Amino acid sequence: METVKFKRMAEGDKEDYVFLEEHERAAAASVCDRLYAGLMSLDSAESGYRVSRLEHSVQSATRAFRDGADEDWVIAALLHDIGDVYAPYNHDEFAAAVLRPYVREQCTWVVAHHGLFQRYYYAHHFGGDRNARKRHEGHPFYDDAVAFCERWDQASFDPDYESLPLESFRPMMESVFAREPYHPRVIATGVRRPLVDPQNAARRRSGE
Ligand SMILES: [Fe+2]
Ligand SMILES: [Fe+2]
Repeated sequence: METVKFKRMAEGDKEDYVFLEEHERAAAASVCDRLYAGLMSLDSAESGYRVSRLEHSVQSATRAFRDGADEDWVIAALLHDIGDVYAPYNHDEFAAAVLRPYVREQCTWVVAHHGLFQRYYYAHHFGGDRNARKRHEGHPFYDDAVAFCERWDQASFDPDYESLPLESFRPMMESVFAREPYHPRVIATGVRRPLVDPQNAARRRSGE
């Protein structure tokens, strides 16, 4: 059997759907490859910044890595703008949807809201409210979103920064996207892990 027999889903039988389920599982397993290709395509995306969107992404991830942040944080930083080219008006939600099954709730929440939190750095130049993020004040991950933007996102437009190569993040990406999607241990509801872990940062510095 190379394809299903049906032309309309309503005509499919059990054999068709068992066959499809196997195909879909294999396709889901290669999501990491497609996201990696998606990141590379950010290199040619339009940008008026001094670095490409790819460099911004890799620079954010490198800063997270050098801060000693764990795998969830580093991959969240690497992919936080993956939606830029597909969802220019809600790129944060797009990236959060990609990450949600595979990383801690804390990281998904921060990525989902980073667009609003980033407005702190520029909204006032357009007569906007740079403190609009305050509507989330009191949320358990509020301070994490502030730190994510301050340390990694807004800081990563520097053409002189020495980022690690994209390839060096590939094993970490593979490990995150090989996790069992939505497993309670993966989602870790309510768990907060620090963005900065000085001991881990020192360990990584000596291995870099
Ligand atoms: Fe963004
Ligand atoms: Fe960004």
